[in-house]
Amino acid sequence: MTHLPVYLYGHPVLRKISEDVTPDYKDLKKLVADMYSTMYESEGVGLAAPQIGRNHRIVVIDADPVKDSFPECEGRRFTLINPRIEVLDGEAVTRSEGCLSLPGLSEKVKRVEHIRLSWVDEDFQAHEEEISGFLARIVQHECDHLEGKLYIDHISPIRKQLIKGRLSDIAQGRIRCDYPCRTAPRR
Ligand code: NI
Repeated sequence: MTHLPVYLYGHPVLRKISEDVTPDYKDLKKLVADMYSTMYESEGVGLAAPQIGRNHRIVVIDADPVKDSFPECEGRRFTLINPRIEVLDGEAVTRSEGCLSLPGLSEKVKRVEHIRLSWVDEDFQAHEEEISGFLARIVQHECDHLEGKLYIDHISPIRKQLIKGRLSDIAQGRIRCDYPCRTAPRR
């Protein structure tokens, strides 16, 4: 397995809408295995394909490390290909989120925590499940990546202004990152 570099905020690949994966996708299982290994190496609980430079609808999640704070996450590991989310109730909850593409930052984000998720796995078997709590938040955060969105798109303009300097530090590579990463190409 290969640890892939994580693409950081400012890289255009994080802002594109990703394409569906088809059953003839080359080396899908190897890519998924590399994504898990990259996620574990960087101590994340989720990773979406744009974060390793591919605009394809692939997400890996292993929420088990946060089970002490969020029991619904215990043992929950998902490989999501072409995931689709349906919001099941409108009551939003505010909690802190971070992202491997935004090292050193975390911000409070308001999201619903009850969704219906449908996806296919790496063998293209279809699944559907209702998911709640922090696990539903992780799924929404990762699926946002497939739409070219980041969690900072959900924070207030004032909050965004306050972290502007830190965002530009990330975009320009003026940060220390504990895992292999790739900053935006210089313009
Ligand atoms: Ni993220």
